[in-house]
Order: sequence, then C-alpha cells, then structure tokens
Amino acid sequence: MSDNILFTPFQLKRLTFKNRIGVAPMTRMSSPGESIPRQDVLDFLITRAKNGAAIVYTEAIITDYESAQGYPGQARMLTQRQIDAWQPVVKAIQHEGSVAILQMFHCGRMSWPEINPANRVIAPSPITPKQNNPLTQEPYPVPDEMTEFDIKHVINGFVETAKGAVEAGFDGIEIHGAHGYLINNFLSSYSNQRTDSYGGSVENRFRFAHEVIQAVHKVVPEDRLLAFRISNWGVADMEVSLFESKAEYQAIIKMLSKEPIDVISVSTYGYKDKAFGTDQNMAEITREVTDLPLMICGQIYDRASAEDALKSADIALSGKSILLNPNWVEDIRAGKQLPLYKSEEANIAYTDEPLP
Ligand SMILES: Cc1cc2nc3c(=O)[nH]c(=O)nc-3n(C[C@H](O)[C@H](O)[C@H](O)COP(=O)(O)O)c2cc1C
Repeated sequence: MSDNILFTPFQLKRLTFKNRIGVAPMTRMSSPGESIPRQDVLDFLITRAKNGAAIVYTEAIITDYESAQGYPGQARMLTQRQIDAWQPVVKAIQHEGSVAILQMFHCGRMSWPEINPANRVIAPSPITPKQNNPLTQEPYPVPDEMTEFDIKHVINGFVETAKGAVEAGFDGIEIHGAHGYLINNFLSSYSNQRTDSYGGSVENRFRFAHEVIQAVHKVVPEDRLLAFRISNWGVADMEVSLFESKAEYQAIIKMLSKEPIDVISVSTYGYKDKAFGTDQNMAEITREVTDLPLMICGQIYDRASAEDALKSADIALSGKSILLNPNWVEDIRAGKQLPLYKSEEANIAYTDEPLP
C-alpha cells in the first residue's frame, strides 16, 4: 500500500471521495424545540468539508417523535422546516467536492421516558443495561418489549427519515446499527432474548436490521449511497462484547453483505484493538468475509494511524480529532505530530460553545 493512499480518491457508485478521510457521525444535542441544529453546529460540518474531509456525516438523526430519542436536543428530518434547514448545508458540503451522509438512528433501550414526546422506551426485550444512565444518574428504565406493531411503526420512522434525507439532497444515508442502540439491541443476544422470529438464532436477530434496510432501500434512489454502521461495543456496559464470537460477528457481516447496502462502517473503540480473543482487529475480521467497501473508525489520530487503519479498510473516519482540530486533514497531510484526544475533551461538542 502506497504512502499516499490517504489522499487517493475512492469511487463508490457515482460518487468520488476526494480522499479517504471522513468526519464520523457526532451527536451535538443542539436541536431543542424544532429538532433543527444550531447554525454554528451546521457551519461546523461545512467547515470540515472546506478543510478537506471527503465525507461529512451528520449527527445521529432520530427517526420519530415516539421513542427514538436518546439524548436531549437531537435533530430530526421529518418536517419540511427540518429539510429546508439542511438543504443549504448539504449544498455547501457538496460545493467543496465532499460527500454528505445522513446517519439515522433509534436509541432503543438507551433512553428514558420524559425525553420522547410519547414517553416510551422500547427495545427487543425488557432488559436494561447494567450501568446507570450517565445523563440522569438513574438506572435505565425497563423498556417495553416491542410488539409487531411497534416494529412496523419504527421501521416507518426510518423510511420517513430517509425520504427527508433524499429530499434534503444528501448523497448517502446510514442506518445506525452500532453502539447499543435499537438495531444493535436486536442483533446482540446481550439485549435480545425474544422467542419469536426476531430473536434466538443469529438469522432471527438479524431480521429487524434486514427489514429496516429493505424498507429504506425502496425509498433511496439508486444514485445515493446506503451505509450500515456496526460495532461490537455499546455506549453502556462498554466492556461487553456484543457479539459472542468472531464467527457470530462474521455471520452477521455475511448477511449484511447480501443486503442492498453500499458500504459497511465499522466502529471500534480503538481500530488497532484485537477482537474476540484473536490477533486480528475489527477491520481485518470484517474484511475477511465481505467484499463491500469498509469505513473504519476509532483512535485514528495522525497520519501513521490513519495509514495503518487503511490496511484493511477503504475509508478512515475520525470523531474526536476532526471535532477538536479544524485543520486535522491538512495536519495529517503534512504528517504533523498530533495528540490522541481523551473522551472528556470531546464534551465541548455538547455545549453552546461554537467549535472553530
Ligand atoms: C461528541 C461525540 C458524539 C458522537 N455521536 C455519535 C453519533 O451520533 N453516532 C455515531 O455513530 N457515533 C457517534 N460518536 C462516535 C464517533 O462517531 C466515533 O465512532 C468515536 O468518537 C470514535 O472515534 P475517535 O476515536 O476518532 O473519536 C460520537 C462521538 C463523539 C466524540
């Protein structure tokens, strides 16, 4: 692999990524009221495109007004006003030759009642994470076990949000299947103990993801990308391996690869970390069983780590580094010595302080 791989374009369907570096999806909690982010939060995304990122992800956009919200002030893409607010942002990102991708998510069991207008917390099974919710300092409430009606209703939220994203002009849409949120709750036996066709075997646990992807695919035009994000860790009970083994994780990747998606985004805590007791990292384990393009994320912070991460993936996404350093892409190009930021340093993302 050449030293210049990071700055080599990558073609995916009609889209050319101008380099291999993207802004990972980052929730900003700046959208109380109308579920439209603050202007400086939208400007942050445009600045990152201007400063060289080939791909700019939105924060996780919540898919309904019932049970999808997991954090205060999250954004939605379900009303004309929400769509109108994003349209110029998408255009500005595209004007820089960058690609705009909207991530959509339902928080599943990672919620609490008061935060959603309908006061509901729903999940595949009535099981809570073991740890307390760091935002409320309380135990997470026991979720309602989703009925077939709930499942269809939630899928409809993903579809409606995807329609909003298409209308707003996004180049791609990502289904958030990672981090212990709803889709991930279904995939993992840690949170899914259903005995119907949505639980038990890996195939059954995959069924909800399959139905979401199939339904969303129908409303996403052929010229846009459909991405799926996956992880073996969740933001609660972070130390737990959400898949039981490499074989189980790879079975899910194989099923995903048969779906009408264009790229898999693998989220890790640290891209280098060995997984499932093997001597392989998550990108290597994923690459072994899929031909789909891969994005990788987790503690990629300087040129050497970005190049190393791309040994088994096509695109490197950054969260904290690109959040805190507006010139990160150019600093990478210059091979500058750069810091590995700590999680606490990123908390500024949730404040009113505009980021440079
Ligand atoms: C402030 C902040 C908000 C985040 N919000 C999201 C999100 O909305 N969706 C998501 O999939 N990941 C989210 N993440 C995780 C990042 O996308 C990324 O996977 C993680 O920060 C690890 O990458 P890093 O080591 O480069 O920071 C968030 C991370 C940060 C720091």
